[in-house]
Parts: sequence; structure tokens; C-alpha cells
Amino acid sequence: MAPVKVTKICCIGAGYVGGPTCAVIALKCPHITVTIVDLNQARVDAWNSPDFKLPIYEPGLDDVVRQARGRNLFFSTDVDKGIKEADLIFVSVNTPTKKSGVGAGFAADLNYVELATRRIAHVSESSKIVVEKSTVPCRTAESMRTILEANSKPNCRFDILSNPEFLAEGTAISDLFGPDRVLIGSLQTPEGKDACASLAGVYSNWVPTNRILSVGLWSSELSKLAANAMLAQRISSVNALSAICEATGANIDEVAHAVGYDSRVGNKFLRASVGFGGSCFQKDILNLVYLSESLHLPEVAAYWRQVVEMNEYQKKRFSKNVVDTLFNTITGKRIAVLGFAFKADTGDTRESAAITLIKDFQAERALVNIYDPQVEHNQIWADLTEAIPNTPLENIKKQVTISASALEACKGAEAVVIATEWKEFRDIDWALVYEGMNKPAFVFDGRLIIDAEKLRKIGFKVKTIGRGERV
Ligand code: UDX
Ligand code: ADP
Repeated sequence: MAPVKVTKICCIGAGYVGGPTCAVIALKCPHITVTIVDLNQARVDAWNSPDFKLPIYEPGLDDVVRQARGRNLFFSTDVDKGIKEADLIFVSVNTPTKKSGVGAGFAADLNYVELATRRIAHVSESSKIVVEKSTVPCRTAESMRTILEANSKPNCRFDILSNPEFLAEGTAISDLFGPDRVLIGSLQTPEGKDACASLAGVYSNWVPTNRILSVGLWSSELSKLAANAMLAQRISSVNALSAICEATGANIDEVAHAVGYDSRVGNKFLRASVGFGGSCFQKDILNLVYLSESLHLPEVAAYWRQVVEMNEYQKKRFSKNVVDTLFNTITGKRIAVLGFAFKADTGDTRESAAITLIKDFQAERALVNIYDPQVEHNQIWADLTEAIPNTPLENIKKQVTISASALEACKGAEAVVIATEWKEFRDIDWALVYEGMNKPAFVFDGRLIIDAEKLRKIGFKVKTIGRGERV
């Protein structure tokens, strides 16, 4: 049997992964009809909005959607129709860390993957290639296969592939246009290899074939966890070194630069910060920890767990530094937090370091002004309500306000904390900020973006992650 030529794709899940990925597939493959389905009506409506007010902020995304929507890209809540019509289905639903039950706090909650898989089995009337796109623990594809096979009808064949997504938020579109690699995992049977060739055929419309890697199903699943764990490990390593720099007067920028010059290490992903966030790093490492423990490999589990613990330590260390520097108390003092997203160029706040910092400041009974250029106010309130569960929102709002600009957030504050590296924070008129602040005025740079010397000349007391200078 020759590989099926894909002409109709359905993507289940219109989130940060499914939305941009399948929008780009539609753009690059005008001969393929791509339908992205989601149960969330509001999300689908936003994807379909006439003025392109998309549910995700991602540079370049609206341009892609403008070109393809209505041509061969469609968004719908009719999940069953999408499944029935497609010959290839991406499963891109959410896989959060479990909050209760076995593996709570570590294992992935596969409920959404299972429900989507059962739906595929239930409504399909013809054979499908089912592609696992969500980040999932090793061997999830095997469970999906078991569910599909147990529930399939005659003449309905399901081939399972794993095709993890490596895009980073904020650069998703350029990552998708020119990926370092596309990884496709399949069973090493003739049918599995054919399914793999079908999906490779889709990507080969714009990705050079030497960048499309075919591997076994489980290697593919593990590679995604491994890639994220190793990237996060670099950040925890550099953050651990930043603590030594602060204690000794060394400069983490100089250390990272010197280390990164070694071509074996490379210079990317060595930026010290207030801690990594995002929906993937912590979740994937905890998955790896859980997997290692289930495989009776406690030393391996402890090794990876430490990457997350170092990240927690970095966030705590930062907020403690703020309290210590402001004369050991921030009670009643106003602190401006610039940035709420987990990184620049996204409106996503999942696991953002800013949430932990604000929670710590709130516990110290400080007053907090937040400013972020992209994050919706409702999202900030939802995140703070979740992070501070024992305090009703109206009480949180007595301590926390959301400002319309960086300048407004800093007015009357004792300290400014830079939590996200938004470009506009590099261009702030610091002399104007200084005028409006209480004195002494402090700046804590958690993202290494300001010129500390320049700010000191204005009069600020400056503390930067990984720099040993005294204030
Ligand atoms: C990550 C992976 O990069 C991507 O390949 C995978 O598909 C999903 O997870 P993402 O979480 O979107 O992507 O963003 P990333 O750029 O990796 O940043 C993650 C966090 O690490 C952010 O909070 C970022 O600010 C932080 N970071 C990154 C640092 O603190 N220092 C660095 O040097 C790089
Ligand atoms: P990710 O960052 O992995 O893309 P998101 O949470 O942004 O995760 O998106 C996942 C999307 O999947 C959500 O919009 C959610 O409504 C959708 N979803 C979850 N389960 C199903 C399902 N069974 N059918 C259709 N959509 C689903």
C-alpha cells in the first residue's frame, strides 16, 4: 500500500499549539483543507472574528490567518464533522499537570487526550492517521492506539503518529516557517512507515526533507520531554551561577558569554532570569520525574527534579532580595511589577515568574501595581485568584492594581521590578519614572535588560540578577 496523500486535515484543539501550527500548514499547503476544531465557542469565535482579534497574541499570526482563513483554513466547534471529513487528525488538546489523584503535581492529566481520542473512534467512518501533537508522557500514543483499535468499526484503520511541536511562544510563526527539525515518530511497521511518509509529505511543502526526522514512536515522545528538560536545565544552571555571581561580585552576563563561546556549549539559552515559566518546561520535567519514578529510577528522577527546584529557588531568592533591600519590610510599600507574561511577545501567563513574585509581595502586605502590554486584565485576576486561594479577589484588589502604562505603574512606588523582558521596558524614560517615585527609588532587574550605570546616574538604587554590585 502506498502512503495516503493528505488532502483534509482536522486539528482538535485551537490553542497555542494547534492554532498557529495548523494555520501555518494551511498557509503553506493551499491544496489541503485544514479545519481547526475546539469545544470552546468563545475561542473559535475569536479565531473567526472579522477584525482578526485572535485569541492568542503571537507576532505574525494574524497575517497568516488573514491569508488562509476562508480559503483552506477554517475554525469550527463542530468537532465531529471535522473528524469525519479528515484523513489526518492532529490532537492538540491541553495536557496540564494533574491536580489530584495518582501522580498529582507531577503526571500529565491525559483526560482531554483520552476524550478526544474516544471521540475520533466514535465518529470516524473511514480510516485516519491520528497524530499526537500535544506534549504527552512516553507511551501515550500506545494508549491512544488501544482506545482507537478497541472502538473502531470495520474498514476504519487508525495509524498513530507522534509529531511533537517545538515552537516557542513569541517566535511561533518563524519557528514554524523554518523549524530546526520536524520529528515524526511511528511504529516501525510498513503501515506505520506509510503513515509517517504521508505526514512528511505535508511538511515537505516547505520544510527541507533533511530536516524531517523519522524515528520510533517512543523515541519521538521522549525526545520532546528531553529537549524541554535540557533547555530548562541550561537556564537553571545559569541561574544557579547567578546566585554565586551576586555573592562574589562576578557578572553572570560575562560568565555566560565566556562559557557560551565554547562551541560545544553554544551561546543560546544562557540568559539568567528571575526564573523560567511557560506551559512546557516545568510540566515536561515533572512528567520526566514521574516517568523515572514509575520506572524505578529514583536517582534519575531526583536529577531532573532539581532543575525545577532551582527555578523555584531563583524566584524566592528574587522576592527575598526585594524585601531585604527595602530595609527588611515591604508592608504598605508600593511595588511596580513590569511584565506579567512568562516571556516577551506573548500574552500567555502560564507558570509566569511574575505570579510567584506578586504572590510573595502580597503575603508581605505590599501594594502592587502591575503593567503588561499584552496580558488581559481578566487573566491577571484569574491567575492571582488561583495563586492566592485563601484571599477573596476583592481583598486581593485592595492590594493589587493593574496600570495602563509602565509610567503609571511606577508612580508613587518605592521599587520597580522587571519581570518580563518586553522591548518597551528597554525604552522607558527612567528620568521621568524617577521623578514620580518615592526616594530612595529602587529598580530590580529580573531580566538583565536595563543599563544599570545609566539608572544609577539618575539616582536609582539598582539590583540586577547575577551582578554583585552593592546598592
Ligand atoms: C519552550 C521550548 O523552547 C519550545 O521548543 C517548546 O516547544 C515549548 O517550550 P516556550 O516555553 O514557549 O518554549 O518559550 P522559551 O523561549 O523556551 O522560554 C521559556 C522560559 O524560559 C521563559 O520564561 C523565558 O523567559 C525563560 N528563558 C529562556 C530564560 O530565563 N533564559 C533563557 O536564556 C531563555
Ligand atoms: P496548548 O498550549 O497545548 O495548545 P491550550 O490550552 O492553549 O493548550 O489549548 C488546548 C485547546 O484544546 C483548548 O482550547 C481546549 O478547549 C481544546 N480542547 C480540549 N479538549 C478538547 C476536545 N475533546 N475537543 C475539542 N477541543 C478540545
